[in-house]
Amino acid sequence: MNILVIGAGYVGLTMAVCFSELGHSVICIDKQKNKINALLKGKLTIFEKNLDKLLIKNLKSKRLEFDISMKNVVNADVVMISVGTPFDDSLNRYEQNAIYCVAKNITKFINKYTIIVIKSTVEVGTCDRVEQIIKEANPKADFDVVSIPEFLREGSAVYDFFNPDRIIVGTESQHAKDVIKKLYKPFKKKKFVFTSRCSSELIKCASNSFLAMKIHFINEMADFCEKVGGNVYDVAHGMGLDKRIGVEFLKTGPGYGGGCFPKDTKALASLGKRVGANFNLIEAVICGNENRIKSFATKTLSFVENIKNAKIAFLGLAFKSGTDDCRFSPAIDIVLHLINKGTKVCVYDPAATKNARSVLKTKVSYAKNEYEAAKDADIMVFATEWKQFRSLDWAKLSKIVNSKIIFDMRNIVDRQEALKYGFECYKTGC
Ligand code: UGA
Repeated sequence: MNILVIGAGYVGLTMAVCFSELGHSVICIDKQKNKINALLKGKLTIFEKNLDKLLIKNLKSKRLEFDISMKNVVNADVVMISVGTPFDDSLNRYEQNAIYCVAKNITKFINKYTIIVIKSTVEVGTCDRVEQIIKEANPKADFDVVSIPEFLREGSAVYDFFNPDRIIVGTESQHAKDVIKKLYKPFKKKKFVFTSRCSSELIKCASNSFLAMKIHFINEMADFCEKVGGNVYDVAHGMGLDKRIGVEFLKTGPGYGGGCFPKDTKALASLGKRVGANFNLIEAVICGNENRIKSFATKTLSFVENIKNAKIAFLGLAFKSGTDDCRFSPAIDIVLHLINKGTKVCVYDPAATKNARSVLKTKVSYAKNEYEAAKDADIMVFATEWKQFRSLDWAKLSKIVNSKIIFDMRNIVDRQEALKYGFECYKTGC
């Protein structure tokens, strides 16, 4: 099958590579020439586990190509739109011009039956609008617009692509359903959920909002545990063993972040307001998560308030481990708060420093590793759960820090091990 993917971001690029791995002929286009040139040379433009090998393999086999031209629509059986839909705070909704612009631009190239799949996370009604745009511009075009939301996570995107919990397909067209089944041929039939476009669009936003709510629940429970003496890890484990609750997304931390949960929760809440069906629960989650990030910054400062010219070693900047993505990262917000209060901060992240630098600029110093960051530090803060932070040399660290205080926002430090070397280790919810 010939597939055209429009937009080579986290979702688009992963999909393009993985669909070519399934044996389809894929062309992925993006308007950023630099990106396309790098990808043509087999250089990944994002940090994503296992994607590099598949990229090179499929480029070599010629099943995967990169380009900048919309003309590639001509040969495509399926066109997948995966351009960015950032949240526009002034409008209080997704900024979807990029999608509508693509819809207009592809119209003149549709010369046979083509399926247009909306992969970007969008507002309810977007597929209808895209259909209308294409029909108005080219009344003779033979096409179907289908909603297939993407559920892959950054950091495990390749695994998620090949192991989906479900494949949601929003369409009423039997022709489109048949083509989509072929597109996802290796996946088991029971994975498919066929529904209307409206429900499909909602499923994506509702799923992310529900997960954000689950995280916020356990974060508030962590605060509760600290007050009454419980251990949030044990509480989450005990709760999660109930299949109706499930163990996933019950890890406490400094709040959820990234390019998806913050905007999808806001989009659902604001849509609720517009249609007169207030989503009070999600509004509380949004507010609670924002307050949590602020309260973690305040808590960090409270540990060093009596130290003159305190230096903070801040470990982890990405919004979670396994990615270089710093969009809406709680870690970045906390660092900004700390520097606004005049504190000296030295940061380190195994993958996200380059992206963080564009926000933090010269307001912090940058270390090459955990040990350089910890030199003369009055507190070590762990804000992202990178695996390598779990096995630090505490003997070495104990000799280079100024004060032996740890604030472990993600509960990754081995407290007993750190204690052996005289560190006080403050955890979250235990
Ligand atoms: C999320 C969804 O999990 C994907 O299914 C979806 O496809 C994607 O958004 C999207 O809409 O494109 P992602 O943003 O990559 O994926 O990251 P998650 O792993 O879901 O983590 C989101 C945030 O929640 C991170 O800040 C993470 O640290 C936090 N989190 C996650 C917790 O604090 N605790 C947990 O137990 C799990």
